[in-house]
Amino acid sequence: MAFGKNLALFLSAAGVALLAIAFLPSFNPFWSSWRKGRQVAEMVVLNATIYTSDASLPFAAAMAVRDGRILGIGNYSTIQGFIGDGTHKLNLNGKVVLPGFIDSHVHLIFGGLQLMRVKVGGIRNKEDFVSKVEEAVKEKSPGQWILGGGWNIDLWGGGYPEASWLDGISPQNPVWLSRMDGHMGVANSLALKIAGITRDTLDPVGGAITKNSNGEPNGLLVDSAMKLVLSKIPEVSVDETRAALFLANRHALLHGVTAMVDMGRFFPGASVEDSWQDLSEVYEWADSLGKMMARVYLFFPMATWSQLAELIREKGRRLSQWIYLGGVKAFADGSLGSNSALFHEPYEDDPSNNGIQIVDIDWLANATLHSDKSGLQVAIHAIGDKANDMVLDMYRSVISVNGVRDRRFRIEHAQHLLPSTASRFGQETVIPSVQPDHMLDDAGAAEKKIGTKRALEGSYIFQSLLDGGAPLAFGSDWPVTDINPLRAIKTAIYRKPPGWDHAWIPTERISLDDALKAHTISAAHACFLDQELGSLSPGKYADFVVLPANSWAEFAQNPSDFVSATYVNGKQAYPF
Ligand SMILES: *[C@@H]1O[C@H](CO)[C@@H](O)[C@H](O)[C@H]1NC(C)=O
Ligand SMILES: *[C@@H]1O[C@H](CO)[C@@H](O)[C@H](O)[C@H]1NC(C)=O
Ligand SMILES: *[C@@H]1O[C@H](CO)[C@@H](O)[C@H](O)[C@H]1NC(C)=O
Repeated sequence: MAFGKNLALFLSAAGVALLAIAFLPSFNPFWSSWRKGRQVAEMVVLNATIYTSDASLPFAAAMAVRDGRILGIGNYSTIQGFIGDGTHKLNLNGKVVLPGFIDSHVHLIFGGLQLMRVKVGGIRNKEDFVSKVEEAVKEKSPGQWILGGGWNIDLWGGGYPEASWLDGISPQNPVWLSRMDGHMGVANSLALKIAGITRDTLDPVGGAITKNSNGEPNGLLVDSAMKLVLSKIPEVSVDETRAALFLANRHALLHGVTAMVDMGRFFPGASVEDSWQDLSEVYEWADSLGKMMARVYLFFPMATWSQLAELIREKGRRLSQWIYLGGVKAFADGSLGSNSALFHEPYEDDPSNNGIQIVDIDWLANATLHSDKSGLQVAIHAIGDKANDMVLDMYRSVISVNGVRDRRFRIEHAQHLLPSTASRFGQETVIPSVQPDHMLDDAGAAEKKIGTKRALEGSYIFQSLLDGGAPLAFGSDWPVTDINPLRAIKTAIYRKPPGWDHAWIPTERISLDDALKAHTISAAHACFLDQELGSLSPGKYADFVVLPANSWAEFAQNPSDFVSATYVNGKQAYPF
């Protein structure tokens, strides 16, 4: 006791002496340089169960943050030296911390706009579908468009929605409601009329106008045929788009997502200008006002590759810590739900149809060659087995011309593969950018559409992709499925759609560790941000989430699908 008291006295005397020296910086050059070199943390996380996604230190208990970046991470003694008088201490009492999630594939502004529109996602019958639209009509004046989407007929088990469902309730307002995958939509008769679609209109290349038995268009438009209606919808105002960004960002932070790869507002047939307008009018505008809340890595339509190459030459890839110019995206095929994903063999439920090749392969190869030569990252949407093989072959030929380099070609979705194709991703270092939660919608339908053998051998074969050495990256495709990385991780490790008592293709379940990596460090790798993000490592941004679980064992046994808090740059971003 006495010794302790003496020690305390001695320490405080020493402290006063040191303080005196510290206030005379010229007196002792060694001391002043030491003070300058000592980094005092703005905040430290203490007593946490930190999963780092960094193989050199998989778990840690404490982390120090300054200027938005991680100063040090390890145990208490690793970070103790960073604690100063002003350091904020966040004691988490053992709670689990993960790196902020990176969503590898979203349509951010489109998702934000959908949050403001008619929501027909999750609807389970025709009556509810119709009454949702009816409610929306009441709030509009005649002539205004009723827009929305998210419908999925598998949920109501009946036929496709048709113009006739909507004509009675919306005679004076044109209606356009896209299917959840955005590759198909239903218009009412007024919208068809405005679009000039009649019984004589031919299917455009890369699309289909569905007709009833009398040869009249029934309201359903697939892929590029959607453009006929989309081109008539008045442009969304800049104010609406900006509001959509803020809503979308809050929605992402609520689910622990701190960085997103934005594939743009475009769907096949939509305007390529949207992505460019969003860059200048929305993202750069928000950034200039300090209003960005999450980081974005942007892809642009491949047709505009030279514009992007030019911009990057001028400004670099990193516009700020919030906005990164990524690369270019194109489509090879459509979607399974719309029977437009491209397969080697025909659809089981549609024997004359192999799907739709959305793009001219020679154009795609040439545009990829030039984009790649300019140093742009290339991402191509491919869902069916034939589309995936076609894109992999095309990538191989581009590499043989342009030479080997770290280019990180991506295939978006890679959903249905020939079993022999899985290993090509690893061998050829092509990134499969996949969306586990699409499985929740497809597990029931895939066998009907492509037959049991094909469905069970090649659908969402994540473990096979990992076995082949593929750098698997996870995303949501929001608003096609909701942004929710923790739910996607659960889906990937259990493969159990709601209401199922068994896993769908149990051999393709992956480990929790692999699933977490796919939503953090591998997702960062997939967008060239692995030096900045994706793991909790010294020097990287302090973007992290806190989970409700009190221990790793608790989390691993039953992963929650929500976060308690989200931090960006070491600052609490959610709860708002
Ligand atoms: C803290 O971490 C350091 C560096 O890894 C290690 O040397 C030390 O033994 C650890 N201390 C405790 C108490 O675990
Ligand atoms: C760390 O958290 C555990 C679990 O809640 C708690 O028992 C312990 O007292 C905490 N330690 C410190 C130093 O806060
Ligand atoms: C390939 O792309 C380049 C650059 O856009 C263009 O100049 C050229 O005409 C294209 N070649 C073919 C065969 O389409």
